[in-house]
Amino acid sequence: MMEYIGATGAQVTFNSVPIEEGIDFHFILGFAIDADASGNAQNGKFSAYWAESLTPESVAAIKARHTNVKVLASLSGWSLHDKVLRWYDPKDTHLWISNAFSSLRSLALTYHLDGIDIDYEVFPRNKNYTSFAYCVGELITLLKKHSVISVATIAPYHLTVEAYMELFKGYNNVIDYVNHQFYTDKVLTPQRYLEDFNIRVTQFDRNKLLPSYEVNGRGIQGDAFFGTLNLLQENGFEVGGIMIFSADASSSNNYYYERRSQAFLLNSTAT
Ligand SMILES: *[C@@H]1O[C@H](CO)[C@@H](O)[C@H](O)[C@H]1NC(C)=O
Ligand SMILES: *[C@@H]1O[C@H](CO)[C@@H](O)[C@H](O)[C@H]1NC(C)=O
Repeated sequence: MMEYIGATGAQVTFNSVPIEEGIDFHFILGFAIDADASGNAQNGKFSAYWAESLTPESVAAIKARHTNVKVLASLSGWSLHDKVLRWYDPKDTHLWISNAFSSLRSLALTYHLDGIDIDYEVFPRNKNYTSFAYCVGELITLLKKHSVISVATIAPYHLTVEAYMELFKGYNNVIDYVNHQFYTDKVLTPQRYLEDFNIRVTQFDRNKLLPSYEVNGRGIQGDAFFGTLNLLQENGFEVGGIMIFSADASSSNNYYYERRSQAFLLNSTAT
C-alpha cells in the first residue's frame, strides 16, 4: 500500500489513517524539494516541505505502533507554493548527486525515513533525459548502497513517462515500485483502465507497476475503482499493491478507499 500524505498544506496526521497488519504500508511524504523557501534551486540540497504536523516524533510513533509501516519522502512534486518546480540539468552532476545524498541522508536520519519516491513532473523542453536518469539513478543507487534507504519508488504521469522509462531502463534494479499516476490518464471505466494498464506494463515492469487512485480527483472515481482491480486480476495481473493520492483528502470520507484497498489486498493475497 502506498499513501501520499502532507502535500496539500492540511495539518494531517498519521494517526487517523487505518493501517491493516499484514500489509506493507508506505506513507509517502509530499514533498522533499531541492529549493529554498522561495523556490530557488539549491543544486541538490533537499529540504522538507511536507505538512509541519508530520514531525520526526510522529513518524517514529507510527512506526513503533505498526511495524509494517515504512515512510518515504517524495522528491519534488508539482510546485512549492505558487512556483512550479522543474527538473534542471545540473552543471556538475557529481556535485548535485553528492549534495542530494547528504541532504537526504540527513532528512532520513531526522525523520526515520525508509525510502524515497521520485516525483519530478516538469522537464526541459529538449526531451533529453540523460542527466535526469543518471543523477537520480545514481542517487538511489548510492542511498541504497549505504543503507540510508531500503525502498525506492517512481511516480510517472502521462506527460513524464519517457523520462521515467529512461530512468527505469538504467536503474530498474534499484527501483522497487512504479506509482504511475493513472488518474492523469483520465480513464473513467474499468475496461479503459485495463487497456491503459496493458500499455503501462510494456513501459515498466508488470510486477512493479501499481494501480492508483486519486481521492476526489481525476480519472476513475468511486467503487468502479474496485471493479477495475477485479478486472485486472481476471486478466492475469497480480495486484500486489495500490497507490492512493492522498490521505489529505481521505480524512473527509473516513478513509473509505484506504480501507477497501487494504481489504482487497488482504483478500487477494489470502486466496
Ligand atoms: C543529452 O544530454 C547529455 C548530458 O547532459 C549529453 O551528453 C548528450 O549529448 C545529450 N544528447 C543529445 C541528443 O543532445
Ligand atoms: C475476496 O475474494 C473472493 C475470491 O476472489 C471474491 O469473490 C470476494 O468478492 C472478495 N472479497 C472482497 C472483500 O474483495
